[in-house]
Amino acid sequence: MQQIKTIGVCGAGTMGTGIAQLSVQSGFPTILFDVQENMLQKSKDAMHENWKGLLAKGKISQEDLLQFEKLIIYSSNINHCVVDLVIEAIIEKASVKLDLFHQLAEINPIKTIFVSNTSSISINAMASKMEDPFRFAGMHFFNPATHMKLVEIVRGNETSEAVIKMLQELAIRMGKTAVVCKDSPGFIVNRVARHYYLESLYMMAQSKLDAATIDQVLEGTGFKMGAFKLMDLIGIDINYGVSKIIWEDLDKPKRLLPSILQEQKIEKQELGRKTGEGFYNYYKEENN
Ligand SMILES: NC(=O)c1ccc[n+]([C@@H]2O[C@H](COP(=O)([O-])OP(=O)(O)OC[C@H]3O[C@@H](n4cnc5c(N)ncnc54)[C@H](O)[C@@H]3O)[C@@H](O)[C@H]2O)c1
Repeated sequence: MQQIKTIGVCGAGTMGTGIAQLSVQSGFPTILFDVQENMLQKSKDAMHENWKGLLAKGKISQEDLLQFEKLIIYSSNINHCVVDLVIEAIIEKASVKLDLFHQLAEINPIKTIFVSNTSSISINAMASKMEDPFRFAGMHFFNPATHMKLVEIVRGNETSEAVIKMLQELAIRMGKTAVVCKDSPGFIVNRVARHYYLESLYMMAQSKLDAATIDQVLEGTGFKMGAFKLMDLIGIDINYGVSKIIWEDLDKPKRLLPSILQEQKIEKQELGRKTGEGFYNYYKEENN
């Protein structure tokens, strides 16, 4: 069976940064591609800080750190993205993702595998627009990708068995637990998790409780992170986009109606941790 030796991660945002870091730490020469130079620089700085932190804690050696920094290339030139596996983690818009996949298919050899880290866009819908749907699948990491154990491998109707097997092996090499699932709205986790976010948002809108109070109760009952802290971590734009796609794909049930509170936050560009303000304010934290 063909082997994955090099990985290209597209999108240097929240997820792309984590996936690229994970890829490097798993020993793969990795190219991180983004259209925005400032995102690449941010990503480079974040990874460097993370590795310095691991070094300080004695979790990696100085040699490891040097090796990691040698394994990664940060590039805004798509022509550098010629690899065995492309992991796409750009904005949650099918047309933009497809446009990127088409450009990448033109410059990559026929054996290259393409996976999307989408949280909600149909893998079959995207695969049907690809010349080779057999080599196309979903590989859904969770945030932060370096730490969260679960990966959903989403099998499209035409994804080849060999590709699924390769992705399962890759997930194991990355230290993950892989669950192969069908292509359906929100796959498994995001479908189930919608209620966690949406009910919390409805409660805020109806009862005027604030984010900290609702989060405190949720965390007090055993959830690891309150819904509002989690939405800020994910990115409110991303979380809203996922809710909207799942709602539409399930024929707009009332119980899954996306929240106007998130629309208002997006309008103000208060997107969570990545912009410094969401349901909470992070400026103080960053300046300390
Ligand atoms: N945020 C999460 O918690 C989370 C979790 C799992 C999956 N996802 C999925 O991962 C994907 C990325 O989400 P994110 O939160 O990292 O987004 P983000 O907004 O943090 O980053 C998106 C990045 O994509 C870049 N980009 C946009 N168009 C591009 C293009 N054509 N080519 C290259 N780069 C481009 C942007 O410059 C930006 O750096 C989405 O599909 C999302 O649904 C997100």
